[in-house]
Amino acid sequence: MNINSILITGGYGFIGSNFIRFLRKKLPNLKIYNLDKLTYAANIENLKDFENDKNYIFVRGDIKDRSILEILYPKVDAIVHFAAETHVDRSIIAPGEFILTEVYGTFTLLETLKKYKNIKLFLHISTDEIYGSIEKGSFPENSPLNPSSPYSASKTGADRLAYSYYKTYELPVIIARPSNNYGPFQHVEKFIPLFITNALDNNPLPLYGKGENMRDWLYVIDNCEALLLLMEKGKIGEAYNIGASNELKNIDIAKMIVSFLEKDESLIEFVEDRKGHDLRYSIDWTKIKNLGWEPKKNFEDGLRETIEWYKTNRQWWEKVKRGEFSNFYKKYYKREIQ
Ligand code: NAD
Ligand code: DAU
Repeated sequence: MNINSILITGGYGFIGSNFIRFLRKKLPNLKIYNLDKLTYAANIENLKDFENDKNYIFVRGDIKDRSILEILYPKVDAIVHFAAETHVDRSIIAPGEFILTEVYGTFTLLETLKKYKNIKLFLHISTDEIYGSIEKGSFPENSPLNPSSPYSASKTGADRLAYSYYKTYELPVIIARPSNNYGPFQHVEKFIPLFITNALDNNPLPLYGKGENMRDWLYVIDNCEALLLLMEKGKIGEAYNIGASNELKNIDIAKMIVSFLEKDESLIEFVEDRKGHDLRYSIDWTKIKNLGWEPKKNFEDGLRETIEWYKTNRQWWEKVKRGEFSNFYKKYYKREIQ
């Protein structure tokens, strides 16, 4: 597929900003439009070094605003749609914004797309959470969807809307379903950055429940490579799982973080469990493997590098913590160790 210009939604978030940086290296002449509302989760410092890049254009705006899309769509050949509300804990406290952004936002992007035949690809970023929890084995792409948080339910709505616009209106949709990403520029409300930055300051690490929950951790650059491959070789109308087979219990990751930072395990504090907390996510990613992708980063190396990044970029995350004290993590950040 020959792509000269691309629209990225949510490009100031964690994966979106890593993807823009990755694209710039791989495709230096690509014109990149970044449409981002700049919610609390965005960080314009993530792409500070792009300010003088003539082929990078930031547009502050909402994916639900069709008038902005009508200006941007004629200019691009492809769309990669990351924009979303992404934190499960927030979706439990205040689900409304998730439904509006994921469902109505994705609907607006798709509905507007009907008119623009110049756009050859709509790569929709879904998530492995839409399958729900699985005790044994792994979900292939054709598994029933069984989301269990307002976040994953909203993402399921968006995923199926994207598919329906392929099936009904023949829009050029591909769906990516990555597992838990980690790496640089991730917001400190999320598990790995929260635990690293709290540990760096000798603050408690709030581990939900018994810490037995398992996630499949995928290094963000491996995910970026998978997404680029889907842009190049993915089949229109198909969904692709992107996993790493790096399944770990939260307690084991917490112990790795304290050990790599040479801190004491007593920093780990067992706290009340997340409501409806999914025990284990696991996806079968044979389909994308057959297209020629597999993750390169070993988890221990990736975690060490991520820790190093947060150590070196204290200013970046201290600003985030100072500026954005959401109630559900403020209490853990501020609490003194007994
Ligand atoms: P993030 O929370 O770091 O960033 C989201 C970005 O979207 C922010 O820059 C925010 O300002 C923007 N945004 C939110 N609402 C918007 C709107 N209405 N209009 C325009 N911009 C808006 O997210 P992330 O962790 O980078 O996740 C990116 C995507 O990948 C999401 O769709 C998420 O569901 C999916 N995903 C994430 C992971 C993960 O582990 N982080 C794993 C699988 C899938
Ligand atoms: O699986 C993909 C999903 O991964 C993405 O779609 C979501 O956008 C992303 O936020 C992530 O969801 P999780 O709920 O898995 O990620 P989170 O970092 O919030 O939590 C990871 C695990 O750590 C989970 O089992 C809950 C636990 N946890 C989390 C926090 C924030 C804790 O034990 N303590 C915490 O303080």
